[in-house]
Amino acid sequence: MRRTDAALLGQRIGLERSGSDEYVKAMLDHFVKQVDNQTYTKLVSEIMERYVDVSKQLEIKSRELEKSDASRREAQEIALIGNWELSLCTKKLWWSDTMYRILETDQSVEPDLMVYFQKVYPDDKKLVNQIYHDMQSGMVPAEYRYRLLMEGDRIKWVQIRFVGSKDSNGMLAKVHGTIQDITSTKAIEEKLEEYNHHLEDLVQKKVAEVSASQMATIHALVKLSESRDDETGEHIVRTSQYCRLLAEKLWEMGAHKKEIDRAFIDGITQASPLHDIGKVGIPDGVLLKPGKLTPEEFEIMKTHTTIGYQTLASIEKKDTGSAFIKVGKEITLCHHEKWDGSGYPKGFKREEIPISARIMALADVYDALRSKRVYKESFSHEKSLGIITQGRGSHFDPLLVDLFLEHDSSFREIFDGTLTGKE
Ligand SMILES: [Fe+2]
Ligand SMILES: [Fe+2]
Repeated sequence: MRRTDAALLGQRIGLERSGSDEYVKAMLDHFVKQVDNQTYTKLVSEIMERYVDVSKQLEIKSRELEKSDASRREAQEIALIGNWELSLCTKKLWWSDTMYRILETDQSVEPDLMVYFQKVYPDDKKLVNQIYHDMQSGMVPAEYRYRLLMEGDRIKWVQIRFVGSKDSNGMLAKVHGTIQDITSTKAIEEKLEEYNHHLEDLVQKKVAEVSASQMATIHALVKLSESRDDETGEHIVRTSQYCRLLAEKLWEMGAHKKEIDRAFIDGITQASPLHDIGKVGIPDGVLLKPGKLTPEEFEIMKTHTTIGYQTLASIEKKDTGSAFIKVGKEITLCHHEKWDGSGYPKGFKREEIPISARIMALADVYDALRSKRVYKESFSHEKSLGIITQGRGSHFDPLLVDLFLEHDSSFREIFDGTLTGKE
């Protein structure tokens, strides 16, 4: 009501002293009388309706809340989740009924820190003490798992989760949280872990079986060619070791990153024994000839590289993508290629020769130099080292010769059979 209306009203009811208590009271009385009965009833019914509506909603909400509270309690009971609250000032502890079930204690026992600590598994007491310390120094929220020791030496796994609440001064005053009995969850987790280990073992066994059968095939193939050659089984084993050594050293120094990885190292170790597999296709008259070969015979001898390559290429159709066959093909074809392009069968030079074949060439020659053959005596490590050094940049990849010179003692130890694997 505007001031002028109030003055007008005052005049009408005969009160001149506008602004006095009597004036305001009379004005309000008059105003109430002015509100007609109908408007009043409408207002009251509206308010009542709204009230009923609100109370109905409240009723529904409280029923829902009660229900959800009951379900929460039920869920906590089923999941064995106990609630607790600890006052950091008074050290007073409160816990829910489920806590009694978890701790397996009588409901007459008052919630107490000592009662709780006594239940902790001896080896986990240090951890629980630490947790209690962290709580007091404000390190919340947190989550931990530890064991309780129950009657009959039963172990119970629990998971504790808690948060802190601060007082009006912003100081941490209370810590509250849950404790859940996770013994059965833990048992399932352990079973799963056990199962995973079992699966890992199975996979490893299968891999070992496959590589063993792969190696058995290789050795059978190698034996076949070996029976007609003067290269021995030891030559095959040793060249495989030299190849692994050089490949690993290249990998460690980060050279040939595109080609050299773990699969390559395993591939060259397994495939290097195949380097002369093509000799199965060379006639006895050429292969076993003790003297020098005629140029025609040498041409026939050279074909052991392409025969070997073709043999592996035909296998590759059934075994696509394996590093073993890929490296095997490179080695059989190119192990007589030379860095300066004077080798055979393709006359490849430098980087044209696959790194696997360059490694194989050096390994093969070192072992051949050290071994006794029908056409030569065995050479000393020093003499062989000198010959290989002479071939740096002509026969052999200079980087590989440098690596060989750096690790020549390991080559000697492999040949002597005294390598301890310390390098
Ligand atoms: Fe060869
Ligand atoms: Fe060889």
